[in-house]
Amino acid sequence: MTQDHKPWGGRFSEATDAFVETFTASVSFDRRLYHYDIQGSIAHANMLGTVGIITADECSSILAGLAQIHKEIDDDQFNWRLSLEDVHMNVESRLVELVGDIGKKLHTGRSRNDQVATDIRLFLRAEVDELLNQTTALKEALLDLAEQNAEVIMPGFTHLQAAQPITFGHHLMAWFEMLKRDTERLADCRKRINVLPLGSAALAGTTFPIDRNQVVKELGFANASENSLDSVSDRDFIIEFCATASIMMMHFSRWSEELVLWMSEPFAFIDLPDRFCTGSSIMPQKKNPDVPELIRGKTGRVFGDLTSTLTLMKGQPLAYNKDNQEDKEPLFDAVDTLRDSLTALIGLIPAIEANTKNMYNAATRGFATATDLADYLVRSGVPFRDAHEIVGRTVAYAIEQNKQLDELSLEELTAFHQGIGEDVFAVLTLDGSVAARNHIGGTAPDQVRAAIARARSALGS
Ligand code: ARG
Repeated sequence: MTQDHKPWGGRFSEATDAFVETFTASVSFDRRLYHYDIQGSIAHANMLGTVGIITADECSSILAGLAQIHKEIDDDQFNWRLSLEDVHMNVESRLVELVGDIGKKLHTGRSRNDQVATDIRLFLRAEVDELLNQTTALKEALLDLAEQNAEVIMPGFTHLQAAQPITFGHHLMAWFEMLKRDTERLADCRKRINVLPLGSAALAGTTFPIDRNQVVKELGFANASENSLDSVSDRDFIIEFCATASIMMMHFSRWSEELVLWMSEPFAFIDLPDRFCTGSSIMPQKKNPDVPELIRGKTGRVFGDLTSTLTLMKGQPLAYNKDNQEDKEPLFDAVDTLRDSLTALIGLIPAIEANTKNMYNAATRGFATATDLADYLVRSGVPFRDAHEIVGRTVAYAIEQNKQLDELSLEELTAFHQGIGEDVFAVLTLDGSVAARNHIGGTAPDQVRAAIARARSALGS
């Protein structure tokens, strides 16, 4: 392999060991940052020109060179060299090839340490904005589906045992609430991403009269970082992103688990169109919900990315250490996995077909209105604990008779409590049960519609 001259080669008297060169290089993955690396360099060059560290002509040559490099990379015409270690030195070295010695002035007043921190922040900010757009699309998909299913009755579960009847719309709005919190976390995390490290140089700042606020403005950051040591070594914003992504994936994994269950034959609550499913190579009858299963499976990768980045940082003294080069692959993986999972869900959610009959029938089994009967007794003056006991005995009797509660006759019911009247059957129906839970946060169709309306007005849709 031909050894390129290292930009840091001055004090070295022998070539880098071939394995060490490969071991220390990051260009195979950090080239993904090229757009942001060049964007940061353009802002830096403009600032050097404004304050007079380089001349206006030098600045224009550098900008022209950077524009050409950007185009070469876009067009896949760029010769990436492992011996130049990373994206930063590949770009800089090409700049010198293109514009000569003037290109060597670009690195005045900065270091790769503040440069890489800036690149990652620019990258992650753009990705977070894209992810936030995706969350809006997913929220709208959930709201539409919840609206269509505001009155659809299904069993609600605790311990995965039928507990009380709910509406499918209410269940979907529970998912919506999870996603709403996720979105808030993502937007909050963006605030701490959006700070400019450039100008911190290697660790202590620079002797040149730089204007960090100009760079802040050009790159759209909220402000310049306050401490040069902290800003070249801080990777909290990556950890925070991975933590936020982990919570989101945990939610998506829970949704996926429900989708998989609901699609299985014993539930048969929903169907997913063929385009979101795959078959089995041996069992011709199979239609498998691979997409939710994979989202559930990929959740583990993102938890791993969080663990990697936390562990990466825990032993590092200030300021920059080469360890930090290991921050990129888990970050990229978390971003990609989250983006793909959101894309999958944005497609999947509107395609869910609720099998409303099966949902309803399932809700009629399992004594889901037992609590309603207890509440009915309470309204006629029975203390709740006694009502609970009475209904418990009624349920035991119904099991013996192989009947549901609303299939018991009035005589059978009054045997358990004198005060039960004909009006009891209204509360034993599923529709009566859900409609009665009519308060903020309750499952009544009217409340689901009100929650959807509030959500839509918050979204501005
Ligand atoms: N490739 C390096 C990284 O990703 C860039 C910064 C290198 N700085 C240094 N002093 N070696 O962290």
